[in-house]
Order: sequence, then structure tokens, then C-alpha cells
Amino acid sequence: MLVVELIEKKKLGRELTDAEIDYLVANFALGAIPDYQMAALLMATYFKGVNDREGRRFLHAMIHSGEQLSYPNIPARKVDKHSTGGVGDKTSLIIAPVVAEAGIPVPMISGRALGHTGGTLDKLESIPGLSVRLTHRELESILKKYNCVFGAQTDSLVPADRKLYALRDVTSTVEIPPLIAASILSKKIAEGTDALAMDVKIGSGGFLPDEDSARELALRLVEWSRAYNVETIAFGTDMNEPLGNTAGNGPEIEECLRILQTGSGEPRLLEISTLLGATMLQLGGVSKSQHEAREKFTDILKSGKAYTRFQRIAEAQGAIPESWKMFESGVPASFEREIKSSKDGFIGEILPRDIGYALVDLGAGRRVASDPVDPSAGVRFFKKRGDRVASGEPLALAQWSSESANSPAALARIETAFVITESQPVPRPLVYFRTDANGASAYKS
Ligand code: URA
Repeated sequence: MLVVELIEKKKLGRELTDAEIDYLVANFALGAIPDYQMAALLMATYFKGVNDREGRRFLHAMIHSGEQLSYPNIPARKVDKHSTGGVGDKTSLIIAPVVAEAGIPVPMISGRALGHTGGTLDKLESIPGLSVRLTHRELESILKKYNCVFGAQTDSLVPADRKLYALRDVTSTVEIPPLIAASILSKKIAEGTDALAMDVKIGSGGFLPDEDSARELALRLVEWSRAYNVETIAFGTDMNEPLGNTAGNGPEIEECLRILQTGSGEPRLLEISTLLGATMLQLGGVSKSQHEAREKFTDILKSGKAYTRFQRIAEAQGAIPESWKMFESGVPASFEREIKSSKDGFIGEILPRDIGYALVDLGAGRRVASDPVDPSAGVRFFKKRGDRVASGEPLALAQWSSESANSPAALARIETAFVITESQPVPRPLVYFRTDANGASAYKS
């Protein structure tokens, strides 16, 4: 097959056959198709789309680009969680150790920063020594011992997603919903989970601009995963402002560790963590109702046991035990700058996409695929949407350590991301809908 002909076909809006998709995915994973040809194909796909059959075939080909894990020595029902991605979206790191503490195995294969959004793997790697590039044997042994492991795509585990993900990140081709579904589910099916709680982010801080497109993706995730015997429940949640009090890898780990230690934290972050964590407890069969599951999740979180479990998992993955002190006293950075309000008023918006791209400029994300990531780079929010502010009052603190960061651009962008209004903004819902095998329903908390 000639790749240039397949690019041409997509450019003209024609469907690719199953054999053509298999060929593209397998050969790209092997390195036989160069990035520039795959980037052209992705851009054509962005404009012309892929239909349901093509999307399902991408998923099939991506799963089969590597091995599929199974854990015959871990008979319990395995449950995982994933988000379509957002800014400050760190719930996986709070939820996974709590659910593991409840007795449910969580074999979590995650992704890196993508576009303006953060990635669980980059956050984890801000813990000195921790490695996410684990072999099947290492994944299995850590999962068996601690009920949870955090891994990455590798040359043998969904290598096609590893390469496509990195290319989509730097070519502005993330927002292709069927490829988002294929990317997420290829990791989850290859990791060997039996059930999945999905957080589909709605708004400018994620990749789905509105509720309709999020509902469509949620339904697709539920249906496609069912074809692989994975039971999925998906929630549509708000991503029109950063989640939690921090954004950026090291600062987000610091925030998660504090929540795991104390059981308390920023309310929106705690609510989404509790909703998804409780759903995992139900999917894993340890709680019968959402109410009972929420209570169990909260009890474990408040006990501090999930904090210790997270430390043991991280140390089994190479984390240096001395690092915990550094997170307790606050991730240090070589440079920091306060962002102040230019006038009196209310915080009308904190535009998450601007915060996300400012973080890339500070070094927390990648401009090109080979860029190193600065683990200390981040933003600490002192004010939330709806808060009253006075002129000159600090809104946030930006921090970074790399001399080569484009800090002037980043700081200007963080400043304009805070929209100050004369009147208090109307509160937005946090959770919009819930989708399972019976379809979508409005969410009532
Ligand atoms: N998360 C993923 O794993 N893949 C995507 O494409 C988007 C979010």
C-alpha cells in the first residue's frame, strides 16, 4: 500500500478500509511510516472525520500493535478510571490508591500531557526516581502486592498509542473524538481491566467543547468497550475552569498527597474524585449503592491509609522515600512570580486553555515531542471563580525552574486567563450527565 494514497483518500473525505487502517497503525508503530506522513493523515482526519467503523478499527489495530495483559494470579475484578483530559485534572492519583485500599485491583495505564492538558504520567514522573516504564512482569507483581500500579504505553504495550499520542500532542490533532476513544480504550483494554469509570470533560479546558459532543463520546466509550467485555460508566463533568488549587506536574502531586494525607481539599476536585471513586467501588462489587460507595470512599480517604498505600506503590516503582518531605514542604522552583488583580470585582472566569498553554511555555508540557518536562513548573491558584477580589490582590503564583522557559509569554497569558467581572458569575453545574449501557441520563447529585 502507498501511504500517500491513503492520505489522499482521507483528504478527499473517503473511508479507509479495515486493511488500510491495520496497515497504517501497525507500520507506524513499527517505525516504517514516518511522522510527517502520519501527521498529514491525522490532519486530513481532523478535517474529514472518521466514521464509527473506522474508529472501531483504529481501536482494534491499536490494541493489537502490542501485547494484551492478563493477570491469572489476580482473580478479583479489575477496575480503572480515565479522563479525556483537562487542566489541573489530577483525580486519578487521588482515586486509585483509595480504590486499591478498598480491595479492588487498579491496573492503571495512563497518558502524558496532551495539547494544553496535563498527563498522569508526567505528574507521576515529578516524584524523584519513579518510573512508569514497567515490564508486564513488574506491572503484575506491583499490582498483586499493592492492588494498584501506574504504567505507561511501551514498545510492547499499545506502542501505536504511544507514538500516535505523542504526534497528536504536537500537531494540534488531538480533537478527533473517535481517535480520542480509540486512544483511551486501547490502553484500558490492553492493560486488562474489567471495568472503567470515565470522566468526559466538557468545556474549553478539555477537548470536547460542549455537552452534545461529550455525550456522543461517552456513549461511544460505553459501546466500544462493551465489545471487549469491559463495563464502562461515563460522566460528563465541567472543564471550563482548572480543577483544584494547582496546575502543573509537581504542584499537582503535592496537592494530591495533601488530600490523601488529610482527606480534605478543594471541593470540586474532591467531589469529582468521590463520584468516580465511588463508581469504581460499585463496578468492583464492594459497594451496592452510590450512597454506600461514597461513604466508603470518604472513610478510606479520611483514614490516611491511601496516602501510605500511594507511597508504597510509588516506592515499588522506584520513588525515593526522601521525596515525600519535599512534597510536604512544597515543591521548590528557581523562579516564581505572583499574578495580581488589575481591578476590583469578581473572578468571572479562569480560562483553563490559557492556563494550560501558559504551563507549556513555563516548561510543564512539550512544544516538540522530544522536549524535557520541568517537574517544578506550575500555577498555584489563590482565588476561584466567583470569588471577590480587590485591585492588587494576588490571584495566583506561577513557578518554574528552566532558564529556557518562555516566562514573559506565560505570565502575560496567566494574567489574561483571569477574567475580572463587575458582578458575581452564575454558578455552573459540576456534573452534567451519566452514561452506561442503558444510555445517558441527566446527573442528579
Ligand atoms: N486521553 C487519552 O488517553 N487519549 C486521548 O486521545 C485523549 C485523552
